[in-house]
Amino acid sequence: MRLQDIAVVGASGLVGRKIIQTLQERNFPVGKIIAIASENSVGKEVNIGGHRYKLHKLEDGIFKNVEFAFFSAGASVSHNWAPEAAAEKAVVIDNSSAFRMDDNVPLVVPEVNRSDIFRHKGIISNPNCSTIQLVMVLKPLDDAFRIKRVVVSTYQSASGAGYKGLTALDYEIRNPDTKHEHSPFPHRLAHNAIPHIDIFFEDGYTKEELKIINESRKILNRKDLNITATCVRIPSHTGHGEAVNIEFDRKFNLSDVRDVLSSFRGIKVLDDPSNHIYPMPINVKDKDEVFVGRIRSDQSVKNGINLWITADNIRKGAALNAVQIAEEYIKGK
Ligand SMILES: NC(=O)c1ccc[n+]([C@@H]2O[C@H](COP(=O)([O-])OP(=O)(O)OC[C@H]3O[C@@H](n4cnc5c(N)ncnc54)[C@H](OP(=O)(O)O)[C@@H]3O)[C@@H](O)[C@H]2O)c1
Repeated sequence: MRLQDIAVVGASGLVGRKIIQTLQERNFPVGKIIAIASENSVGKEVNIGGHRYKLHKLEDGIFKNVEFAFFSAGASVSHNWAPEAAAEKAVVIDNSSAFRMDDNVPLVVPEVNRSDIFRHKGIISNPNCSTIQLVMVLKPLDDAFRIKRVVVSTYQSASGAGYKGLTALDYEIRNPDTKHEHSPFPHRLAHNAIPHIDIFFEDGYTKEELKIINESRKILNRKDLNITATCVRIPSHTGHGEAVNIEFDRKFNLSDVRDVLSSFRGIKVLDDPSNHIYPMPINVKDKDEVFVGRIRSDQSVKNGINLWITADNIRKGAALNAVQIAEEYIKGK
């Protein structure tokens, strides 16, 4: 297979490092990797899987001859540089929120809407981490029972805010009464739960909540989907949890729900509560799958269920999904 030259923007960050690690682990046909970070990191190196990568800064011409450009350095970097990479004929796979809701940019979870990849005009967006694990579960259920309404409450780990989030949490665990001075969170996170991720809008929702709502509708191609969200940051390191209530148009039985979920590629059902078996963030680190458990009927509505989802937000929630998009792109239509 022809080797692909790759740029990773944000290569010193949590997601960028994981993208390079995932490319190595999955034997992606990598030619050269150009590792890019901020100007502060120029001259430094990152060591990933025994390979050392020198860090470069963004500058004109850096994307020349690059076939895939993975961006994971925040929305403003993507806004400023992804069009330049696309103009150099690189296929951009963007982890930021910059282009996700742009009608000309596909928003893709390969197991859910693979064919959208091929509508791209240079940029393909990777969804928000909480959206990815949610739509992985909603898609097979929507196909089987037609979803009427979704209510999701998230329990999101500190790593969702990058290295700064992990550093703040570790510091606050060691220093019980203090908030880390460079914390990305609005309050002390250790021993706490913060119902606030990203900025608030006038209607009282946060941007993170709207990302889940709008991105899920776009990926599932269900503009009509009734869906609402509450996003909460909790003091776990890695792995997001989601408590989800789903109402269907059609009747169902729970064993069919389990079968539908178990047979969907990328989902693992872990649901044996009597033996204390259910998904937990502590168990999903570095796992590729989205885990589902606590599947039960909602007795308060006609055709409803409750369930609990967890996945590694850095892996399936970001890096793995991005690499899968590139893999599917190479395989072609
Ligand atoms: N963490 C998650 O769970 C998650 C999930 C999905 C999507 N994302 C998205 O992925 C992106 C990165 O997240 P992260 O968690 O990896 O953050 P992170 O650990 O803070 O890493 C940020 C990376 O961006 C680089 N960077 C910052 N400013 C830059 C600039 N002006 N030019 C070039 N590079 C620059 C940093 O380089 P330096 O080391 O030089 O500062 C670092 O490599 C964000 O857009 C985030 O929303 C994150």
